[in-house]
Amino acid sequence: MATTTVRIKDLPQYVGETVTVNGWLYNKRSSGKLQFPIVRDGSGVVQCVVSKKEVDETSWNDSDRATQESTLAVTGNVVSETRAPGGVELHVKEVRLIGLADAYPISPKEHGTDFLMNHRHLWLRSMKQHHVLLIRNEIEKAIRDFYYDRNFVLIDSPILTANAAEGTSTLFETDYFGDKAYLSQSGQLYLEPAAAAFGKVYCFGPTFRAEKSKTRRHLMEFWMVEPEVAFLDFDGLQALAEEFIEYIVGRVLERQMESLKELERDITKLEQVKRPFPRITYRDAIELLKSKGMPANFGDDIGGDEETVIANSYDRPVIITRYPAAIKAFYMQPDPNDPELALGMDMIAPEGYGEIIGGSQRIHDHDLLLQRIQEHGLPVDKFQWYLDVRKYGTFPHSGFGMGVERVVAWISGVPHLRETIPYPRMLNRIYP
Ligand code: 4AD
Ligand code: MG
Repeated sequence: MATTTVRIKDLPQYVGETVTVNGWLYNKRSSGKLQFPIVRDGSGVVQCVVSKKEVDETSWNDSDRATQESTLAVTGNVVSETRAPGGVELHVKEVRLIGLADAYPISPKEHGTDFLMNHRHLWLRSMKQHHVLLIRNEIEKAIRDFYYDRNFVLIDSPILTANAAEGTSTLFETDYFGDKAYLSQSGQLYLEPAAAAFGKVYCFGPTFRAEKSKTRRHLMEFWMVEPEVAFLDFDGLQALAEEFIEYIVGRVLERQMESLKELERDITKLEQVKRPFPRITYRDAIELLKSKGMPANFGDDIGGDEETVIANSYDRPVIITRYPAAIKAFYMQPDPNDPELALGMDMIAPEGYGEIIGGSQRIHDHDLLLQRIQEHGLPVDKFQWYLDVRKYGTFPHSGFGMGVERVVAWISGVPHLRETIPYPRMLNRIYP
């Protein structure tokens, strides 16, 4: 039947017309001479009404033998129906079965995580996964808009690198024609020289960490967005991070309310995400943990459980600053008032979602940076290009990295990072 092919979400614009929808059978009810297939096409779902006396025999039989997730082309009249999801129904004139599906492994009953992860390629079709990934899509677009609108230049950093940016314990190593190369842990080192070329830059891409622990907050491959700004000081860096997070949350609230509702996210918690965010020092954080009965001492790392305790003391993201230099990366600028401390910052998400941003002011003194590279046991020859940035017109500068999956998890309200990326890479899992 020759008609216009329409996506389900656009059907309300076609009330009274005959159109065709291509999609997958989501569910089906029937009673005698009526069948009610529900069709999904990625943009929405629509209930169809197939009446035996109004369609040809092929249509009736195709509708009848279609199994869950079979592909169908359904042509019919778009009818307003306030009780239906999407506000319309399709009164069917013709059904054509395009692909008959085998017995579909994912059913509405509960499945174990391992089973779902083994079927991730199919699990993507499920409603919850669908809404989480729509939120991810919005966040990724918001990230690009935020920096583009503020005149940052996108600098794509390499994925294969000879440099360890974030410590040598989580490197994925590969052979590079007889040399050693690693999958990038961060684009930062490549952005700092670009900041001298463009002033304000950012990169946004996949990063890799061989995290040998199994936690709900760690992936081996995750997406990170990293701004880097020339002449930006430590306070300015915190202000940029606040503005950025407020913007992202605002965009999801503005444009993805339907998905947030489908996920039953507590919207009021997201509406509180307004600047200014509380800013506390690492010392304050240690005191806070002690006051809550946690065994915390100056010099300790702030781990996942500690982050949750700190986050629960506030109603919006909290920024922790001025960590002991000894527990932070080699490139962080010392605090001028106490060189044992680094001008590093982490932002902790509310509700137990952990660290979403890590950043710092960078060392811009050549000799101090060289000394830190040596102290960290990093190969100086591989860092010559990075040291050059301090030789040819050095400049104070700052930047941070935001983990996209952590932010998607927090905003969507899903507890585990494995549901925030289409194909998660986890400890002992690279299938599918
Ligand atoms: O704190 P990190 O290690 O900072 C850096 O890589 C800096 N070089 C960034 C910069 O200053 N340009 O990582 C930044 C963020 C973390 O706050 C977290 O959100 C995320 O990246 N992240 C992870 N997300 C998922 N899985 C992992 N294994 C992650 N490791 C870090
Ligand atoms: Mg960090």
